[in-house]
Amino acid sequence: MQHSQEKILILDFGSQYTQLIARRIRERRVYSEIHPCTIPVETIQQLKPRGIILSGGPASVYDSAAPHISPELYSLGIPVLGICYGMQLTAHMLGGIVSPYTKREYGKANLVIDNTEDLFSGFADHETIQVWMSHGDRVESIPPDFEPLAHSTYGTIAAMRDRSRRIYGVQFHPEVVHTPQGGAILENFIFKICGCSPSWTMTSFIEHTVQKIRALVQDKRVICGCSGGVDSTVAAVLLERAIGKQLTCIFVNNGLLRKNEFEKVSHLLATTFSIDLRPVDASERFLEKLRGVSDPERKRKIIGNEFIAVFEETARNLGKVDFLAQGTLYPDVIESVSFKGPSATIKSHHNVGGLPEAMHLQLIEPFRELFKDEVREIGKELGIPDEFIYRHPFPGPGLAIRILGPVTRADLELLREADAIIIEEFKKSDMYRKVWQAFAVLLPIKTVGVMGDERTYERVVVLRAVESVDGMTADWAKLPYELLGTIATRIINEVKGVNRVVYDISSKPPSTIEWE
Ligand code: XMP
Repeated sequence: MQHSQEKILILDFGSQYTQLIARRIRERRVYSEIHPCTIPVETIQQLKPRGIILSGGPASVYDSAAPHISPELYSLGIPVLGICYGMQLTAHMLGGIVSPYTKREYGKANLVIDNTEDLFSGFADHETIQVWMSHGDRVESIPPDFEPLAHSTYGTIAAMRDRSRRIYGVQFHPEVVHTPQGGAILENFIFKICGCSPSWTMTSFIEHTVQKIRALVQDKRVICGCSGGVDSTVAAVLLERAIGKQLTCIFVNNGLLRKNEFEKVSHLLATTFSIDLRPVDASERFLEKLRGVSDPERKRKIIGNEFIAVFEETARNLGKVDFLAQGTLYPDVIESVSFKGPSATIKSHHNVGGLPEAMHLQLIEPFRELFKDEVREIGKELGIPDEFIYRHPFPGPGLAIRILGPVTRADLELLREADAIIIEEFKKSDMYRKVWQAFAVLLPIKTVGVMGDERTYERVVVLRAVESVDGMTADWAKLPYELLGTIATRIINEVKGVNRVVYDISSKPPSTIEWE
């Protein structure tokens, strides 16, 4: 979904830092979009970017399968900044020499600035700055018409430009925190060289997206699956703003939700935001299908398939629907292997994977380019209460993957109570927003305890709390002992059937956040 006249296009060559480039630019209030480097030049022209950034990437320009771009890109009159592989590719394609890998330059390096006219404007002549390098190949000789702008203290050409065509290259990564002045360099590119103004805001994102959705949908109908999570809630409210009653949301109660979740979310969407919501209580169906199933993968499959079945049945009663809206985020569009083309980059959202094909629906994904905190900002702008905006992620298969072994009603009740205590105590102690996720896991084992004078033989609850930026990696949260103590005491006292609480101190990797 494109919007805003002023945008910077980032062409992805597979760098692990590509998302960071986009983020750094949006933080400076200029809109940026990531596209695979295979994007046709005509599409680039239609998008009318103010500037193009070529990301880094793991390849060498000499690899037979190295991702390339059309040379036309350099003669569109649009400023180009190549980062790392992007610089090497530029040098290689425009007549410079890239020398193949002999010794990797990886990690912190010092760079001396030789020219402070544009990309390094604001820096002192011959100033030495710290940068982050991560490359094997290097530019041995720059193309004709280019001039060097900086060199590393190892003698590598660290930055170059063709001033007349406004083509730039940097061998280091300005987007990472290990290049402390990288932000200033990106600012010079987007403001001084591309002429952007810092005018992009979440309000402008909302306005442009609303217009785009209206233009796309016209008088047709859209359905949206709501789970109560931040992404689908914000997507639904945004869609409602754009097309009102042409949107119908389906909220399936799979019987695996947290305590009071179904009621709370239904109330928010239907009452606060007047969304045409179809709450479907399918708990029985899900629990029936899950009866006796222990294998985590089978649980996930059963839940996924059942969800599709319920969703389809409900949607069928709505008459003709053409679009399916999803709150897919950038981190869901995983694995920057995007030089293989856009189709390789899409990971279907857990619950609705398979739906668009099965139902012949066209997808609307307004947040495909955004990060979770950006979606939270949009949600705030749209007036969604903080309680929903800042809620922890919750997996599509719900509590089923937090009950080890077969899922029963009794265990679900037990886990809901333990979970509610954890969330309540995290909120009370101001820790809720400091962790990525905190939740309970119910183990299929019993341990001996003593309550009063009685011997008990009851279940074990695991407290799991992690810190993470995107859920891809995570570290166990260093919680205050008081909080750990309060939670353990409350769970053991208040949740019948539990006599022991343990804290999970595993990081991801090698463990995962969820236990199944
Ligand atoms: P793992 O357990 O893979 O979890 O370390 C990473 C993050 O993803 C969430 N998660 C899921 N979310 N459907 C979802 O929508 C799923 O099937 C699913 N499995 C895990 C998990 O809660 C954590 O935030």
